[in-house]
Amino acid sequence: MIFNILTLFPEIFQGYLQASILKRAVEQGLITIVLTDIRDYAPGKHRNCDDYTYGGGAGMILKPGPLAGALDVLQTGGGRIVYLTPSGRSFNQEYAEELACESGITLICGRYEGIDQRIIDIYVTDEISIGDYVLSGGEVAAMVLIDCIARLVKGVIKQYSLEEESFNRGLLEYPQYTRPPEFKGRKVPDILLSGHHAEIARWRLEESLKKTMKYRPDVLDKLTFSPEIMKILAEIRNRGECDGQD
Ligand code: 6GU
Repeated sequence: MIFNILTLFPEIFQGYLQASILKRAVEQGLITIVLTDIRDYAPGKHRNCDDYTYGGGAGMILKPGPLAGALDVLQTGGGRIVYLTPSGRSFNQEYAEELACESGITLICGRYEGIDQRIIDIYVTDEISIGDYVLSGGEVAAMVLIDCIARLVKGVIKQYSLEEESFNRGLLEYPQYTRPPEFKGRKVPDILLSGHHAEIARWRLEESLKKTMKYRPDVLDKLTFSPEIMKILAEIRNRGECDGQD
């Protein structure tokens, strides 16, 4: 899978893409990351890429010319062209799975107050936001997308890790422990050392349900559960463990 990144700050990506899982994915040829400096497509001595917005208002936006120049050279051939913006569609795991089916994605990182609307109208297929807050540019958001999508590309991470994650789908992750069995006076829950797989699975499910109730009641409301899980949820609520007081 090819990720084309258009940015005024290609250097921002170097460290992140050259570490850990993404580094290995690139080395194994599972993903390719092509960085394009938008400024390389800006004419003139100053290679100016931004300008004032028509109609007035604070701040500058990216001019259409350099972006169009870069996009035309890349010849993205029908692939998705994403503009990263806080006013886009919310990114989530389901959206990531949709994008992971593509053979290539182009990511446009805005800076300043945005980009000229005509670039969006002519080229962009997806406007994406990574959350309800404002970043100073799309670069961090682009890295979020690349990381999340690359993990879904076959061979990038072990299949059973993905299955484990999807098994847990919807609910927040249960607490995890490793050695030592006691740390600063706090013991690992006995059940995890018991070797009773069914009881461990039940404990984890219950912890996931409690955590989801505490931090993401909105997520819980949207899911549908089997009668067995509904019973566990009712038990948790009856014990009064859903308000973070446990
Ligand atoms: Cl994609 N870009 C910027 N600049 N801010 C954001 C965002 C994107 N998603 C959330 N906030």
